[in-house]
Amino acid sequence: MTAKLIKGSEIREQILAEIKEEVQKIKKSHGKVPGLVTILVGQNPASISYVTLKVKTAEECGFKEVQDNQPETISEADLLALIDKYNRDDSIHGILVQLPLPKHINEKKVLNAIDPDKDVDGFHPVNVGRLMIGGSEVKFPPCTPAGIQELIVRAGVETKGAEVVVVGRSNIVGKPIAMMMVQKGVGANSTVTIVHTATKDLAYHCKRADILIVAAGVPGLVKPEWIKPGACVIDVGVNRVGEKISEKTGKKVAILRGDVDFDEAVKVAGYITPVPGGVGPMTITMLMKNALKSLKFTLGIA
Ligand code: GUN
Repeated sequence: MTAKLIKGSEIREQILAEIKEEVQKIKKSHGKVPGLVTILVGQNPASISYVTLKVKTAEECGFKEVQDNQPETISEADLLALIDKYNRDDSIHGILVQLPLPKHINEKKVLNAIDPDKDVDGFHPVNVGRLMIGGSEVKFPPCTPAGIQELIVRAGVETKGAEVVVVGRSNIVGKPIAMMMVQKGVGANSTVTIVHTATKDLAYHCKRADILIVAAGVPGLVKPEWIKPGACVIDVGVNRVGEKISEKTGKKVAILRGDVDFDEAVKVAGYITPVPGGVGPMTITMLMKNALKSLKFTLGIA
């Protein structure tokens, strides 16, 4: 058997086209576009490349995009004041503070200062609570889990009654995706198990999974013999395992490896996401979806 590839890079294009179309319609009917501000503190190279891509994608979608770069030395009080300014700005519907922040700034305090109704990352405790309640209560599902769910749905994989095993219990991926898959509704209604570093027999649980979602940050952790034949495998891992010279650009680029032993797993699974080009492209896409949703909430058309 060779698994069907779930290509986030292609699904991303479909979703962005849907977003662009909706933005144009709302612009015509209401004279408004989503406003998204991205606050970047310092010069972390990985953060710069994330933010650059976010800005480019937002512009492509027809958003008003504000990129607010602040020096590494900004005080916590000044950063909080900046967030307060955007909280009160009616043309801004989404506020994103790029993580990580410098050590002298309390990340939790900063994330909690964002108006929950502009928190398009879905990291504020109010939005975490809304996700837990589920249904129409959910405003902004966190972007990577939302992207995973979208991939599963668009691949046509049945989730109702499915055994879902989530490897990893992070606040950004493991815990929220488990919560989303257990709720009633489309792309959910599953029986969910979360496994983690203290789990006694990882292989045992993984082998039971109809849908295996791996977000452990350990390259090649999941072996092919841990996969139930025909299962849907979602690999969230993006691990830098070395560098190579790109054939296209001649520049040094990272060699990326997922949490799943892809070359062997593809022979056992029914569906699998590649790394790169699987879950990765979905995060920014779902951020755009959340920013559009935020505008729709303010217009009463969500
Ligand atoms: N840093 C890495 N990924 C993310 C993300 O999804 N959101 C924010 N705010 N910072 C990040």
